[in-house]
Amino acid sequence: MICLGVETSCDETALALVGDGAVLGEKLASQERLHALFGGVVPELASREHLRKGAVLYRELLAETGTDPGRIGAVAIARGPGLLGSLLVGMNLAKGLALGLGVPLVGVNHLHAHLMAAGLERELVFPALGLLISGGHTHLYLIRSPFDFELLGRTLDDAAGEALDKAAKLVNLPYPGGKFIDRLGQGVTPDDTLFPRPYISNPGLDFSFSGLKTSVARYVAAHPHLKLPVLPDGELPDVPGLGLFCASINSAVAQTLRIKAGRALAAHPEARCLVVAGGVAANSMIRGVLTGLCEENGIEPVFPSLSLCTDNAAMIAHLGGLLAQAGYRHGMELDAVPRGRPVPLDYSRVAV
Ligand code: KG4
Ligand code: ZN
Repeated sequence: MICLGVETSCDETALALVGDGAVLGEKLASQERLHALFGGVVPELASREHLRKGAVLYRELLAETGTDPGRIGAVAIARGPGLLGSLLVGMNLAKGLALGLGVPLVGVNHLHAHLMAAGLERELVFPALGLLISGGHTHLYLIRSPFDFELLGRTLDDAAGEALDKAAKLVNLPYPGGKFIDRLGQGVTPDDTLFPRPYISNPGLDFSFSGLKTSVARYVAAHPHLKLPVLPDGELPDVPGLGLFCASINSAVAQTLRIKAGRALAAHPEARCLVVAGGVAANSMIRGVLTGLCEENGIEPVFPSLSLCTDNAAMIAHLGGLLAQAGYRHGMELDAVPRGRPVPLDYSRVAV
């Protein structure tokens, strides 16, 4: 079955067609440059961009893949969590397309879709431990099947990517700063005495990164030369101590993730692999540290390729296609779920 996926939960308008586990085509319009002007995502602007781009991308996707719309068997929409206005724009596009095409609509949890994205590249084995690390989320799951996710822990405040982005902003690195922290810290040995590994004294599986932000702010105040002049696009400065600063923050985040994921593996020895997804899964140090954890535990690390790590519609179409094929459906009353609220399991199910 060919499933059309629609993703508008944040600052990327994306549509994709996935058929039987293969990506047939995808279109993505990133708003990164627009929001970079403001140092973060401006929700109202994001919604307007989705509205401007959604239908155009749909027509381009059909034309470029030569797909007869009659071959589309289901429409999957990322229903949340995300920015409510942005989600609603995508939701209405998806509902209109499902109605117009006369095919089922299925709402997809954006976070679950991130973790299932690797299934487009390889077979996933279950149960799996899932670590979702993005600009908005830090979630640990036990995944028993593509339809059965148990939330084991989550961040109580900032997400891992948010912590990196805020640290980067403190020294005037461009937004979103996570990848600059990664790049500038590469090849530098971190000093693990500079920054705390936040919330590891709490024995549970939740995260809290706000303490890291405070200690980074104090460090920058004491080392003002790290604050860069605002840079022309894409240029990276050569400031003494900046590499160490970046590597040390990156290490604090990576070690914290390793400790919590290690505890989750100890509590769930039945897990057969560790799936890491979300934009921060692109981070080279975090990849290395989590690969080390998996080697220690004799399980396989699974990292989707970079284009599947960040927000995309192929992951929505993939999980949506699996759900639709298993008979899961939503009606036209389907609601978007803003960030901070749990995504309900309110499917109806038909016999297939
Ligand atoms: O999943 P994503 O594209 O968007 C959502 O938040 O849903 O993740 C974006 C986050 C940003 O915080 C960005 O700084 C971070 O991923 N990021 C990275 C890297 N590339 C992207 N963080 C660390 N290292 C990277 N290489
Ligand atoms: Zn995402």
